Amino acid sequence: MTYYDPANFWSNYAKEQIKDGITATKYNTELYELQNARLMELLKHMEFKSVLEIGSGMGRITKMILDNFQIEEYAILDISAEFVNALLHNVDLKKYSTKSYHIVIGDITDPTVIDSFGNKEFDLVIAVEVLMHIKPRDIYNTLGSLMYLSKRNVVNLDYCTDKDVELRNHNFNHDYESMYKSYNDMCVKFNAEPLGDTDQVLFNVIMK
Ligand SMILES: C[S@@+](CC[C@H](N)C(=O)[O-])C[C@H]1O[C@@H](n2cnc3c(N)ncnc32)[C@H](O)[C@@H]1O
Repeated sequence: MTYYDPANFWSNYAKEQIKDGITATKYNTELYELQNARLMELLKHMEFKSVLEIGSGMGRITKMILDNFQIEEYAILDISAEFVNALLHNVDLKKYSTKSYHIVIGDITDPTVIDSFGNKEFDLVIAVEVLMHIKPRDIYNTLGSLMYLSKRNVVNLDYCTDKDVELRNHNFNHDYESMYKSYNDMCVKFNAEPLGDTDQVLFNVIMK
């Protein structure tokens, strides 16, 4: 099995996705429609004006949030400059009333990247199909970082199943529930909603 180097992998993956022009046509429409509907259902019951989106890719979730909510401050963190460029092409950030955007190309597992943001700086920290790509050795601390950065909500939507399946080397099946729960000094509520028969789960943690 080849070694998974996230920075290299996502740079190459983005180049492949983008080679026919910057497009979102390769998205799995049915799954993404289900994800969008469930995310909207969850988000519309939350209050948030500031957002940190981790692993924003081509901007699918960015656009959904900015189209549907009034956001004052929107921060984006992605390991791939190619994906950030695609997002800037796909999402016209100027058309929203958002007062400030903060775009960082970096790795969520890097403590210096976390330190570049402030403690409890964002109402909502969200990562969709990103944490499933964090290596097992880094995932516990990464969840801690997401909680450190959020003053209200952390949301992640990821592959997560009890089934014993062999995954490609950039995908991991993490036990988010027990890790989140072990941070019980930081959060007051934990919720996990399976997404139909997709083997994906939508997690939401509310911070103290
Ligand atoms: C499967 S894509 C999901 C994109 C987007 N969230 C969506 O659902 O359409 C995973 C994204 O996470 C980014 N990513 C992967 N590992 C990362 C890391 N360690 N730090 C920051 N971003 C990462 C990738 O570059 C890519 O944009």
